[in-house]
Amino acid sequence: MKFYNRNKEVEVISNEFKKKKTFIVVYGRRRIGKTRLVEEALKEKDHVEFFVPRKRLTPALLYFQQKLMEQEGYSPSFKTVDEFLEYLFRNVKKPIFFDEISNFQYIDSGAYSILQSLLDKHDAKLIVTGSYVGIMKRIFTHAKEPLFGRSTCMMHLKSLPVSTAVKMTQDIGYDLADSIELWCILGGIPRYIELTQGDSKFKDFIKRMLSPGSIFIEEGINVLIQEFGRKWDTYFSILDAIDFGARPTEIAECIGASITSLPKYLEDLERLEVIKRRHPLLGSKRIVRYVINDNFFTFWFKEIYPRFVKVCITDNFTVPRISKGYCL
Ligand SMILES: Nc1ncnc2c1ncn2[C@@H]1O[C@H](COP(=O)(O)OP(=O)(O)OP(=O)(O)O)[C@@H](O)[C@H]1O
Ligand SMILES: [Mg+2]
Repeated sequence: MKFYNRNKEVEVISNEFKKKKTFIVVYGRRRIGKTRLVEEALKEKDHVEFFVPRKRLTPALLYFQQKLMEQEGYSPSFKTVDEFLEYLFRNVKKPIFFDEISNFQYIDSGAYSILQSLLDKHDAKLIVTGSYVGIMKRIFTHAKEPLFGRSTCMMHLKSLPVSTAVKMTQDIGYDLADSIELWCILGGIPRYIELTQGDSKFKDFIKRMLSPGSIFIEEGINVLIQEFGRKWDTYFSILDAIDFGARPTEIAECIGASITSLPKYLEDLERLEVIKRRHPLLGSKRIVRYVINDNFFTFWFKEIYPRFVKVCITDNFTVPRISKGYCL
């Protein structure tokens, strides 16, 4: 699909690359277009890029060696991540792109310290992407983390605006009314908009979207798993409770946690723009209610979850399981 919007972001990245030394971090919600943005910004530039795989050390190093060979025509073999990164920074004098940098934690968690010392030593141009939790919380924002304070440009990629989302589906062949309806259920998430290709009527797309086997059925859960890892079910229960209209004390009860431990979860979901807080128009500003703030999650909780997901109540948690047997 043709690349829409994001001209400003491409310009920011291009300007950063004019500097002798740069370290750009692009982060944001899953499917928001991080990888595509960097690929577009680097399209005209000689560069090397590596998707960081969720693999163990030996297969990951073999993978990096193979990718380097494909892009540069030569690669030595590497025994450690240190050797690989050192070789790259010393010998490849062009922009380096690591997609999903937080996956280094599965290969060698020492990679971040190695990167830090290489960034300090060399005039490198490095650009990395990652999800909000993976990149921001695990790698960059805590002062004790090695890459803290090293980036020269932090870019939080947001949803595409409604005007772009509507234009994209109109270009696919939907009329204006259908395009607006599509935006109402998908929001400005490029991956979901792209998946509307193949139909040109809202009702046909909805039928496909809600058919057994559709990727949208597991998407509400998959995004949380990919974003939050093992803690995904806590975030799921929070969203479920918010969708139900629960107050903060009730949300805390739903996840079996104290009210004081709730803010850290709510903050993550707010930063991801999946929820937002509301205060009463006239009452005290201390009264807070949360609402789901993402068109896709709103639709998923209202229409997909009740149809396709079985809920098992275990202790305090509502643990969702995709029900393969049920369809519309
Ligand atoms: N601005 C855009 N215009 C058109 N298509 C886009 C745009 N941004 C992303 N896409 C498409 O949307 C899909 C998802 O984008 P991409 O893979 O870059 O997202 P991501 O944020 O890297 O996702 P993930 O978190 O799953 O890695 C891709 O197929 C991509 O081509
Ligand atoms: Mg990506």
